[in-house]
Amino acid sequence: MAETAQLRLGEKTIDLPVIEGSEGETAVDIRNLRSETGAITYDPGYANTGSCQSSICFIDGEKGILRYRGYDIQDLAANSSFLEVSFLLIYGTLPTPSQLEYFTRSIRIHTMLHEDFKALFQSLPKDAHPMAACSAAVGALATFYPDSLDPRNDRQVEISVHRLIAKLPTIAAYAYKHSLGQPFMFPRNALNYVENFLHLMFANPCEDYEPDPVVAKAIDLLLILHADHEQNCSTSTVRLVGSSMVNLFAAISAGINALWGPRHGGANQEVIEMLAAIRDEGMTAREFVDRAKSADDTSRLMGFGHRVYKNYDPRAKIIKGACDEVLNKMGVHSKLLEIAKELEEIALKDDYFIERKLFPNVDFYSGVIYNAIGTPANMFTALFALGRLPGWIAQWVEYHGDPDFKIGRPRQVYVGETARSYQPLDER
Ligand code: ACO
Repeated sequence: MAETAQLRLGEKTIDLPVIEGSEGETAVDIRNLRSETGAITYDPGYANTGSCQSSICFIDGEKGILRYRGYDIQDLAANSSFLEVSFLLIYGTLPTPSQLEYFTRSIRIHTMLHEDFKALFQSLPKDAHPMAACSAAVGALATFYPDSLDPRNDRQVEISVHRLIAKLPTIAAYAYKHSLGQPFMFPRNALNYVENFLHLMFANPCEDYEPDPVVAKAIDLLLILHADHEQNCSTSTVRLVGSSMVNLFAAISAGINALWGPRHGGANQEVIEMLAAIRDEGMTAREFVDRAKSADDTSRLMGFGHRVYKNYDPRAKIIKGACDEVLNKMGVHSKLLEIAKELEEIALKDDYFIERKLFPNVDFYSGVIYNAIGTPANMFTALFALGRLPGWIAQWVEYHGDPDFKIGRPRQVYVGETARSYQPLDER
């Protein structure tokens, strides 16, 4: 591969350095383009823009490969736990037994929220969307821990990281409990990470509750599969917001908001609502697929398509298998799963989807599992946020250690009015 690329602009030719990634990915370094030519690049949606060099996550969208820190997602899904994967993403290596024990213990002892925090949830309307509640609550963590907000103090960052991973399940579950008008449960630190989350969500003070290990394992798997996905919309948001040197809680709160959108993490809620609508309106899967293809209809086949995967999303394959297994073990027959499989079968044979390389993504089947275990649809994206949290943290930490760290500040091509004279109000 050439070490420089040449760009000719008008009469001028300039050399641009070429960077090659460890998997052979090539990038043209345009940092000096504007100073040397006066021109900038134009790339709406940043589809061809590398915003950083990163060693956390590798995706080959053509081959359907996803790796965290070099480990294949299938291996991690089969052998690891979510906390182990969180450690891997944040610290770069798989933990030794004693590192994992220390990390797990530290997460366990930080699961409680300050008692005053409960007033924050109580002040929200009952029908507040959990993603709005989660982002508000995560932002509010900065008000409770003003002594650990310095992004360049390693000890403060470590404690904030552990607090966030420990408290986000409590925050998400409290958002849900508030919507039901049920009392908030205290965390049970004897349970593992996911079992504790299930307890916070589904237990109440009047009855005994033991989390189902089959369900806990399935949720743990889903969290692993969602844990990182390189420079997607919410992760780029966390990096960009973090680049202002704001504290970690503020950057993660922004990431939660970015994830909420239906073109991103919010798609998992939209998928289940789409499946339920097909069931309830008596529509056939074929009819819905035709609607999603029609230029006159704004419906999309939610859970299909991906900016990077143009072959298949490896996470979708794993989740589809897990879906069958969990529902079988729980003895649940899901009409929604039947509809999802039918939609997939039709779409994968349809020229519209084949030509545009649209395949099921991570969100297509995850909602079927969440639904089967009794999670309301508006909580699905909050579960995605729980999973994505270590990835956001890892990317934020990596950027703060990057020698190329600088505040994110894209340019624009201005196409508005040129200079004109001001008209006083009474002359307009
Ligand atoms: N159903 C029907 N048509 C689709 C779909 C879909 N799900 N996705 C893309 N298309 C069509 C578009 O209409 C467009 O067609 P055209 O070329 O005739 O105009 C073409 O495919 C390309 O679509 P874009 O939106 O330009 O592709 P992009 O890469 O920007 O978008 C995205 C990717 C946002 C994921 C898109 O496929 C989509 O909206 N999917 C549904 C929402 C979804 O499942 N999001 C979750 C993504 S995974 C995640 O964030 C965790």
